[in-house]
Amino acid sequence: RRRVAILISGRGSNMLWLIEAANAPGFPAEIALVLSNRPDAEGLTRAKDAGIATLAVDHKNYPTRESFEQALDAALVAHDIAFICLAGFMRVLTDWFVERWAGRMINIHPSLLPLFRGTHTHRRALEEGVLVHGCTVHFVVPELDAGPIIAQAVVPVVPGDTQESLAARVIVQEHRLYPQALRMICDGTARLENGRVVFAQGWDAGGAL
Ligand code: GAR
Repeated sequence: RRRVAILISGRGSNMLWLIEAANAPGFPAEIALVLSNRPDAEGLTRAKDAGIATLAVDHKNYPTRESFEQALDAALVAHDIAFICLAGFMRVLTDWFVERWAGRMINIHPSLLPLFRGTHTHRRALEEGVLVHGCTVHFVVPELDAGPIIAQAVVPVVPGDTQESLAARVIVQEHRLYPQALRMICDGTARLENGRVVFAQGWDAGGAL
């Protein structure tokens, strides 16, 4: 089983669903570490309660982004981590860190990329009047929210939706999609090759929707 670290900054609901999925027999990954840049992240307590090793690396204790990331990297190497899942991790990562973990680090983003990169995705989706919205799991590349796409899930936008109602509909899909995408990269169903995602023969992305 591949050793996975989940990086969080907040409540960690996606993290909990990844932990739950990895507890199932036959899942190709084990969650070996949950790491937060915020010592007070609610998700850290929830991970501890689930019996997972946790670590806080507070970015405020480091004078530069590089020195913070050196500390992150050292912790990940010390825990023998093979793959990283960003799950509501709200620090922008430098090219150095991203290149170092290229093909081994994935992120979940609350929109149908390449639409609505960045923050406030649900508000912006409502402002644009799109009728479908959703979430995306992608490999992380230096450009923010721009990496090759592994999996997406779609939800309708319905009359009367608010940011909250739309977010609530999307997060249900995030919780389902992220474990599926983690499985895919750990068992070789999806891998990064020359900047593109290559899917194993016979993989039916439509059937997985
Ligand atoms: C999730 O909706 C995730 O997609 C989003 O933050 C939330 C974290 O919730 N991530 C981003 O916006 C990344 N730019 P969680 O802590 O409950 O998993």
